[in-house]
Amino acid sequence: MTHLTTYIGTSNHGFAQYAQDEIRKLFPLTKFTLLVPTEVFIFEVPEGTEDMITTLKEQEPMFLRHVQPVSQDWDLSRTDADVEHLKAWLREAISTGLISSGDKIATQVRKEERADVPYAPFTIKAALDEILVSEIQAEPVVRYADQIISVYISAKKLFVGLSKPADNLSDWSGGAIRFMKEEDQISRAKFKLLEAEQRFGIDFSVARTALDIGAAPGGWTSLLLERGLRVTAIDPASMSPRLQGNPLLTVLKKNAGDVKLRENEFDLLVCDMSWDPRQMGRLVADLLYSLQSGGTAIITVKLMHKKPFQTVRDVLKILEPTLFLLKAKQLFHNREELTLYLQKS
Ligand SMILES: C[S@@+](CC[C@H](N)C(=O)[O-])C[C@H]1O[C@@H](n2cnc3c(N)ncnc32)[C@H](O)[C@@H]1O
Repeated sequence: MTHLTTYIGTSNHGFAQYAQDEIRKLFPLTKFTLLVPTEVFIFEVPEGTEDMITTLKEQEPMFLRHVQPVSQDWDLSRTDADVEHLKAWLREAISTGLISSGDKIATQVRKEERADVPYAPFTIKAALDEILVSEIQAEPVVRYADQIISVYISAKKLFVGLSKPADNLSDWSGGAIRFMKEEDQISRAKFKLLEAEQRFGIDFSVARTALDIGAAPGGWTSLLLERGLRVTAIDPASMSPRLQGNPLLTVLKKNAGDVKLRENEFDLLVCDMSWDPRQMGRLVADLLYSLQSGGTAIITVKLMHKKPFQTVRDVLKILEPTLFLLKAKQLFHNREELTLYLQKS
């Protein structure tokens, strides 16, 4: 009997077709149904769940931000009966041993804007948490869960599934990772580097010296300084006055093509130049002599002309073999761009 595994996939707005292309490459017989145009879709793979998830994690698609399993779905009644379905599903999951006493469980409920239902996502979460606590003394949590209950309310249907956080590609609901905006935050761009740090599991504080190319106004630089690194920031535009006088910071107010650096001076190189990707690639390639062997590079690539796969291939062709790719991912905080995580050979 062929197994059919059903998941909901989410990408950044406008990028679902690329996520689907990548999934189709891994599983050619996948069937897709759009839930939210260009963003959220159901995909059905004729493979067992474990095999599917293993492949998806080993060859993670760049544009697939988040996945959640669908173990059951119902047509919406738009009454409290919908919540009762979910409660019955949860009791069944408990009775079959899928959720046990003491487990840390995060319940994530997503609702499409078009879904016209009389209950709020929070009502569903509260109803399921109540069962978890009162019937099996499980612990409802937001982060660091043992398992995630994922509920999705579309315009017509209700979907539910249970999974380990790592198997969702992101343990944030829909992969929408949020950071607190700081009062004196220099730029929103800082969120991109914060997300890369989390997403790729990088410990910036083990590096000592960083080169930030295209650094102004200084959001990325400020994060690296906070992590204790000595930073050289290159940009013809001005850095935020808030960074002035920081003894760990050197600013080169120049075009990156006009700077001279020392060989092997840095163990981290970051570049967030919103620029033509090939020109950016060549500029970075010309400065790679300053990055130590084994050093890390985080680079955002602007996706122009709606040919993202070609753009990434072109940039990698310029950077390789000096840098090799560890991961390419469109992060939640990337707009028309994606982020490369690389290492110097
Ligand atoms: C998106 S902003 C960088 C934001 C920054 N990462 C932050 O966190 O605040 C892009 C920057 O790249 C700079 N840039 C563009 N071309 C450059 C070049 N050839 N050399 C150096 N900087 C460049 C721009 O001046 C601009 O300040």
